[in-house]
Amino acid sequence: MHNDKRTNFPKDFLWGASTSSHQVEGNTENQWSAWEKAHAEQLAQDAQKRLAHLYTLGKPPSWESLALDATDPANYISGTGVNHYERYKEDISLLRSLNMNAFRFSIEWSRLEPQENQWDEDAIEHYRAYIAELKRQHIEPVLTLWHWTIPIWFADKGGFAKKQNLSHFYRYVDKVAEEFGTELQYVLILNEPNVYTLASYVVGFWPPEQKNLLTAFQVFHNLALAHNHAYKRLKNIAPTVQVGSAIALAQTYAHNAHNPLNKLSVYIKDYMWNWWFLNRTRHHLDFIGVNFYSADYLDWRLRQKNPERPHSDLGWYMEPGALYDLLLQVDQKYHLPTVITENGLADENDTYRKWWIEQTLTAMDKALASGVRLKGYLHWSLIDNFEWAYGWWPKFGLVEVDRITGKRKVRKSAEWFAKQIRGITK
Ligand code: FCB
Repeated sequence: MHNDKRTNFPKDFLWGASTSSHQVEGNTENQWSAWEKAHAEQLAQDAQKRLAHLYTLGKPPSWESLALDATDPANYISGTGVNHYERYKEDISLLRSLNMNAFRFSIEWSRLEPQENQWDEDAIEHYRAYIAELKRQHIEPVLTLWHWTIPIWFADKGGFAKKQNLSHFYRYVDKVAEEFGTELQYVLILNEPNVYTLASYVVGFWPPEQKNLLTAFQVFHNLALAHNHAYKRLKNIAPTVQVGSAIALAQTYAHNAHNPLNKLSVYIKDYMWNWWFLNRTRHHLDFIGVNFYSADYLDWRLRQKNPERPHSDLGWYMEPGALYDLLLQVDQKYHLPTVITENGLADENDTYRKWWIEQTLTAMDKALASGVRLKGYLHWSLIDNFEWAYGWWPKFGLVEVDRITGKRKVRKSAEWFAKQIRGITK
C-alpha cells in the first residue's frame, strides 16, 4: 500500500495558491472588462442553456441553488472584484495562516501601460510594494506576466493575432523584468495559451469572439513565439529568474481502453492540446507550469465519454488522482521540472474540496517517489473570484469571500489542507 505519510516532498517544495489580476483585483480596465459590460445581459439570459451544455446529463443538478446568481447580469461584471488590489496585505496573511510559502499572482498589463508606451508609476509602485509584502511575509512570489487580459489599445491593434504586435508585449516584458527582476525567482510568461486560443478564436465565445481557425492558428503560433522570445529577454535582464509558462494539461484516456480508434483520439487530443505548445517552447522553459483540472475519456470521434460523477459545480468531471499519470507523462516527455500552477474545483458547499486535495497530495507524493521533478503545488484559488464568462457564482476559493462586506472566511477544507502542509513540512 502507498505510504500515507507523504514522505516524498522535499523541504523546499512550494506550497501555495494562485490568482490572476482580473479575477481578484477589482476595477481593471482591459478587453475583458469592456466585453463584460457589453455582454452581461445576454450572459444572464443564456445562463441555464450554457450550463446545461456543460453537463452531459442535461439539467445541472445544482441549478436551483445557483439560478439566482447566474441569471443576474451583475454576476457577469468583474467590477470591484474582491478588492484584492486594496486588501492584498490581508490576503497574503491568509496564505501565512494556511502554512503556505508561495503565491502565484499576475501583473495587470493594462494598469502598467494604460496607454501605449506610457507607464503608470503608481501601478509600478503598487506591484513593487506587493512583491515586497509577499517577501516580508516569507511567501515566494510566482509572477505571471499575461493571464489573458490585455490593454484595450493592444486589443484594438488585433492583440496576439498579429505578429507585428508582439513587440508591444516585449516592451512590457522588459519593463517588468527591469523593475522587479532582481526580486523574483519564478516568472510565468503566459497562462494557458491553449485555452485562450480555443475559447477566444475557435469556439469564439470569449473576447474578441473570432471564430476562425486560421486566426486561431496564428494566435497559438504567435503565443509560442512570444513565449520563446520573452524567455530570452527575461534571462538577459534577470539571469537568475526561473522562467516557464502555465499550460492547461488534461489527462486523457481511451473510453474503451482496447479500441485502437479510441486510442487514436487520445493521441490527437494529447498532441493538439497538451504537447503542441510545449513542443515549440521546450528549449525555452526552466520549468513547466501544469494547470490540471480534467481527466477525459474519449470515444473514436474525439467526444468526451466521461463518467457522470463526481462533478464540480461547473459540471466538470473530477478525477484528481489522474494527476499522477499526467505528471509521469510530462516528466518522461520533457525531462524538465514541473510546478503545479493551478489545480482545484468549483465547490461552493465545500463538499468535495478536501477529497480533491487529499487525492492530489497522494498523486503528487507517488509521482515524487517515481522520480518526477515536481517542485511545487499552487491551488486554484486562494479566494473566491471572478470566473471569466461564468462570472461570480463558481466558488474556487480555499477562502470564501462575502462580496458585500468583503469579509474573508477560511473554508473547512482549507483548514484541513493547512494541517497537511504543516504535517509534511515540520
Ligand atoms: C483556468 C484559468 C483560471 C481559472 C481556472 C478555473 O483555466 O487559468 O484563471 O479561471 O481555470
